[in-house]
Amino acid sequence: MKGRNLFVKQPISSGTEGTGKHVLKRHLGSTQLTSIGIGAIIGAGIFVITGQAAANFAGPAVLISFVIAAIICVFAGLCYAELAAMIPISGGAYSYSYVALGELPAWMIGWSSALQYLAAASAVAVGWSGYFISLLKDFGISFSSALTNTPIVYSAEIGWHMSNSYFNLPAALLVLVISILISVGIKAATTLNNIMVAVKLITIFLFIVFGAFYIQPSNWVPFIPENTGVFGEFGWSGILRAAGLLFFAYNGFDTVATLAQETVNPQKNMPRGILGSLGVSTIAYIATVLVLTGVASYTLLNVSDPMSVALNIMGPNFVWFATIVKFAILAALTSVVLAVLLAQTRVFFTMSKDGLLPKRLSHIHPKFQTPTTSTAIIAIGAIIIAGLFPVDMLGQLVSLAVLIVFAIMCFGVLILRYTQPNAIRPFKVPLMPYIPILGIACCLGQTLFLPLTTWAQFFVWMLIGLVVYFKFGIKHSNLRKLTK
Ligand code: ALA
Repeated sequence: MKGRNLFVKQPISSGTEGTGKHVLKRHLGSTQLTSIGIGAIIGAGIFVITGQAAANFAGPAVLISFVIAAIICVFAGLCYAELAAMIPISGGAYSYSYVALGELPAWMIGWSSALQYLAAASAVAVGWSGYFISLLKDFGISFSSALTNTPIVYSAEIGWHMSNSYFNLPAALLVLVISILISVGIKAATTLNNIMVAVKLITIFLFIVFGAFYIQPSNWVPFIPENTGVFGEFGWSGILRAAGLLFFAYNGFDTVATLAQETVNPQKNMPRGILGSLGVSTIAYIATVLVLTGVASYTLLNVSDPMSVALNIMGPNFVWFATIVKFAILAALTSVVLAVLLAQTRVFFTMSKDGLLPKRLSHIHPKFQTPTTSTAIIAIGAIIIAGLFPVDMLGQLVSLAVLIVFAIMCFGVLILRYTQPNAIRPFKVPLMPYIPILGIACCLGQTLFLPLTTWAQFFVWMLIGLVVYFKFGIKHSNLRKLTK
């Protein structure tokens, strides 16, 4: 009996537009989608983490780490592109799993995406807060750390404990302001996003062009520093460890897939947006890393703004540019928070339209044309998380959730090719079945490098998800009502 079947599947054509209060406006083209994708991708990864990955784990060979992480993301990106063109519904990974694997797996993926996006937006907001406070300090303005730091911290010696702070107010305020903006209208939000994307791309471009003249090839020697004897500290194990860390830098292209119902001709524009944003970011990353490690020795890069180290080496003519880089970092981190919060509102919107979350979450505000209730709920969640938790814990949770979701997306492509061989696929993953299989193997392999505490936190979140599903979702699912 279908009513009891936890794996009841949505048909591919289920991407109905909805009616009345439940319709989103279609106005995004491939350029806008690529811009939103770049907005979500380029952030703390290149501007902050790259220097630490080079200095501590990979040396100049951090370039190879970037290429390895990019290849894994291309496997997942190709699978996302096939699914997004085939099933153009706003829920992204959640919607594709509903069609490929059934309701319970879809719910778990939707719930896991919620963790991924909430933790990602919060982690980047916490990073933004640290950067903002240090920038204000440069101008002689300082605040009490009681309201600018995270109260819950972790150290290897004493484990989890409380710090002297109460709340990370700047991080929470950033989430609040962006949430208001994306509620007032996606148009205003995408305009701001475009400006911030332009700022970060121009900054990266100028850094590459100016920096190219100051490269000292001796800084690339040795290209792969010898392993120190500790697994993951330089040598090939260090390159792999850095690749795991830099996976975070590519996180975000999947947010494009959540905007299918606001996209004009999604069958064509979704693959372009997903693969375009991944391609532009990869080229920008690789060129930046070449210049960064060519201008400054990797041993100097263990700082929060590695580009400034390179600019200092380039001489006093570039002091002005170092200030611009700091503002570009703030813009980059802001755009990541914006794109990720936007994506999560669309996932909840779709889950609510399917009846798995309360109907109120798919209500579109008549004036602003955006799902204001789901935005408000996500904002409250992200404000609490950004205000209380440390960035490293959140970053690891994002990595775990994203790797699991990517692996399941690759699996979904395989399943659908087998179960629905004749469905219309405007975009097809090449080299089947190798790319999805490699995608699954690489993503699951990477999860093994994550700490047990992260796995424990992930399981607790998923357990809460199961309770919500069996208490609410299973009883209100539209598909279940239809198939009874
Ligand atoms: N990819 C995003 C960043 O690097 C999360 O900030």
